[in-house]
Formats: sequence, structure tokens, C-alpha cells
Amino acid sequence: MCDTILQTRGVGKSYSTGGDSITVLENLDFTVHRNEWVAVLGSSGSGKTTLLNILGTLEKPDSGSIVFNGDLAYDSMSERAKAGFRCDKIGFVFQAYHMFPELSVFENVRLPAMLNGKRASKKKAAELLDKVGLAHRLKHKPTELSGGEQQRGAIARALVNSPDIILADEPTGNLDSATGERILEVLRELHRGELRTTIVMITHDLEVAGHADRKVFLKNGAIQNEM
Ligand SMILES: Nc1ncnc2c1ncn2[C@@H]1O[C@H](COP(=O)(O)OP(=O)(O)OP(=O)(O)O)[C@@H](O)[C@H]1O
Ligand SMILES: [Mg+2]
Repeated sequence: MCDTILQTRGVGKSYSTGGDSITVLENLDFTVHRNEWVAVLGSSGSGKTTLLNILGTLEKPDSGSIVFNGDLAYDSMSERAKAGFRCDKIGFVFQAYHMFPELSVFENVRLPAMLNGKRASKKKAAELLDKVGLAHRLKHKPTELSGGEQQRGAIARALVNSPDIILADEPTGNLDSATGERILEVLRELHRGELRTTIVMITHDLEVAGHADRKVFLKNGAIQNEM
């Protein structure tokens, strides 16, 4: 198995809005090693979420390529194949949670497992919700939860399929320090546990980033490794 799980090569991304074009990522090279926990820091608007979406096949770069497990697969995958790949291999924790409003938190957490045809998902979903401290909120709809509770639900959902890699966008951004610490503990357990899950975590917070094995900075559209 190769030592690099995910790599971007010369990735560029611009947006045009109202006739203006903004370059967000420019010739960006970033390597994520298997089983590492890497924190991506950068100021607001520097392109962190854009990068995470590209890493997870949710957005297409304008130039460059992404390699997963040594396979230049992303570029040639159909939308359907990408959806299956994301569901199976990647655990997303979105900055804006993206829970389905009609489903309870328990159903939201189970959903990726059901899409994957995993039968044992009921037990797993309940265990994960217990881990993130939401065992008492299983039947609540996302709108009936606080921001921090939705964030914890989103983390449980990201873990339900035991993904190879977790892409987490500010996973502790809306949590008080004790709850944030609990979430970091869940991530640490996953990272150190049997599966040694690879984690890419975006954060503004240097202290949160200190939990990772390595920090990188996104600045002027490129990744700068910590000296
Ligand atoms: N769909 C879009 N259309 C136009 N511009 C966009 C789009 N998505 C993002 N941008 C712009 O690209 C830049 C990077 O956005 P991005 O969301 O990646 O930043 P970020 O580093 O995650 O910021 P934050 O820390 O505030 O979450 C921003 O200036 C934003 O306005
Ligand atoms: Mg963002």
C-alpha cells in the first residue's frame, strides 16, 4: 500500500462572480500521508473549504489533478462513481453541517451506512451518537438542536462508514472548549485506534491544530508546510 493517501498536483481554482474572477487556489501541491492527522490553517477566505471540497470530489479544480491511493481516478470518475466513492471512503464534516432537515439526528447519522447497504448501522449510529454526547437527542430534528449539537451529529455521521479518511471543516468551530475537547478525543481515538484513520482537519485555532501530527498553512492560494 502506498504511503500517500491523497495528493493534489498543481491544483488551481478560480471563481467568477459578476464579471470578476478571484483566484482561490493556484498551482497547489498538497500531500496527505496515510494514517496522519494534518491540520490546515489559514485566514478566513483563504480557500480552506474550497480545498477540502476538491480533496473530497465535491468540487472540480480548473487545473491540476488529485490522486487517491496512487490512482489518478478522480479525473475520470463519473458523478455516480464519485458519489459511491465519497460514501465509502470519505467522512465529511461540513462547516455548515448539512444535515437533512426532515430526518432525525439518528436517521441522519445512519443515512450514509444505509446508502452503503450496511445492516449493522443502527447499533453503530447509536454508539457514535453516544460517543459525541447526543444519546439523549436521537429523535430530534436538526432544527431542534443547538449549533454545537448539530456539529456533533455531523461528526457522528462522518464516522458511520468507518471511512479511510476524514475531511473535517472546523469540527470544533461551534463548540465550547469542553465539548470541543471531547470531539478532539473522538478524533484522537480514531486516529490512534485499530483503523488509524487519516484526518485532514481545517481550523482557525492553533491550539486545536496542536492535536494534529502536522500543521500546514494555506496562504496566497498555496500550501506552506510548517518550518
Ligand atoms: N461558489 C463560489 N463562488 C464565488 N466565490 C466563491 C465561491 N466559493 C467560495 N468563494 C470565494 O472563494 C474564497 C475562498 O472561500 P473558502 O470558503 O474556501 O474560504 P475559507 O478559507 O474556507 O474561509 P472561512 O475560514 O471563512 O471558512 C472566498 O473569498 C470566497 O468568497
Ligand atoms: Mg471555510
